[in-house]
Amino acid sequence: MSRQISIRTYVTAVVVVAIALATIAWLVRGPFPGGWGIGVLIVAGFLLELSASNLRGGDGSGSLAFLVNLSAGILFGPFWGGVVAVSSNTLGQLHGRRPAIKATFNIAQTTVALVTSVLVYRILGGGLPPNFLQNFGTLTARQIVPEALAFLTAALTFFLVNSVLVSGAVAITRRRSVWQVWQTNTLWVLGYDIGASTLALLVAWLYLRFDGTDGISRLGFLAVFAPIIGAKHIYTKLNTLQKLYDELDGAYDKLELNLREQLEMMVKSIEARDPYTSGHSRRVAALSKAIATDLGLEAQLVDEIENAALLHDVGKIHAEFAPLLSKEGRLTEEEWEIMKTHSTKSAELVALFSRFQGNVLESVRGHHERWDGKGYPHGIAREEIPLGARIIMVSDTIDAMSTDRPYRKALSFEKVTAELIKYRGIQFDPALVDATVNSVTVRRMVSDPTFLAEQTTTIKPSARKSRPALRSQSSFWEGLRSAVGSQEP
Ligand SMILES: [Fe+2]
Repeated sequence: MSRQISIRTYVTAVVVVAIALATIAWLVRGPFPGGWGIGVLIVAGFLLELSASNLRGGDGSGSLAFLVNLSAGILFGPFWGGVVAVSSNTLGQLHGRRPAIKATFNIAQTTVALVTSVLVYRILGGGLPPNFLQNFGTLTARQIVPEALAFLTAALTFFLVNSVLVSGAVAITRRRSVWQVWQTNTLWVLGYDIGASTLALLVAWLYLRFDGTDGISRLGFLAVFAPIIGAKHIYTKLNTLQKLYDELDGAYDKLELNLREQLEMMVKSIEARDPYTSGHSRRVAALSKAIATDLGLEAQLVDEIENAALLHDVGKIHAEFAPLLSKEGRLTEEEWEIMKTHSTKSAELVALFSRFQGNVLESVRGHHERWDGKGYPHGIAREEIPLGARIIMVSDTIDAMSTDRPYRKALSFEKVTAELIKYRGIQFDPALVDATVNSVTVRRMVSDPTFLAEQTTTIKPSARKSRPALRSQSSFWEGLRSAVGSQEP
């Protein structure tokens, strides 16, 4: 059977069931409850259909009109309740210019769901209107509970019938099993549906409370719009919040990209001052990453160490270092003292960026600390020195030895490792020296300068922290919004 024919057959079947149920509802109908009440509920339901189409985000296709339909059902019974549901739904379909087949299906499935649920409510002994809404104070729990249960069962029936019928239509058009569709779209939200349906009791209670016989008090009945306006207001606000969040996200990404570009510019501008250290920071970053990876550290820590390595000398951007960096020949004692402040200056710069607090900052600050405690700025020793700082110390030295300098040529990998081993446990963390001299990647980087130069390292984006409380709160509401209410395909 082609999809077109099977969807037509399906809709026809639902329409036939709807007509049969409407006939039953007609046979058991109560007295006409009056044009005013019915009219107000139809308008209220229609407004909810409208707000649903405005607020519907993504795949969510919920409408809060069921609140009004269910309350019309428990106030006026299956027939007049059905009239309210069908009228407001028809107005909604016309206003939304839905294609004829969809509109027919939606009206028919609303009828089936509403009439079935109100019949269930009546069979279970629910009153029209519910006794507990009229005489709450005078009733005992024994009298209230059965009727409340009848209402909840009716609400459950409404959502089950509605969701199964809609899932059927979706299953036919998408060629999937009904169960599969129902499970993904409905199963997890039934709790919300039942919870939200208690708002229908509020609408019915407002109707009973304000439906006087004389003209003026009848206007009080317009209070049924209060919960509707409230719900609509909340959903609009949540939508605005959601949009704001998305914009913030975009701005955050831009800011982060900007920040990374600026830092990389700073690194480049320092290196531009000294032709011999050109590319130094990048190579140290690549070497540090290789060592950190060989140690089997977590990806995030590897990223942090790589960032720290790239930024370790960024403090040399300060003007006081310029003459020292471009000086030919040895530095004087005094000049060395100034030079030694660069790790602190680097740390001060890095500290300006909140995302670099912690590992990155401490690794930058400590990158000239020595294993034996004779380094600077604090003279801390052994494991007191952050792991990242110890790694940078090793790779900084490797790069200094393995590149050409004015006073000597680059050393071979063997000479570099011999030097590392000589100062193992003195200047360097012994475990790191062992890992480094055995590292295939480090060997390749040192013996093949072009390979090392090709290693591209950039500032790694920080792991996106999931947005705090408001995010989860809004997804709760999103869940509620897309879940609540009768579905439409
Ligand atoms: Fe340094």
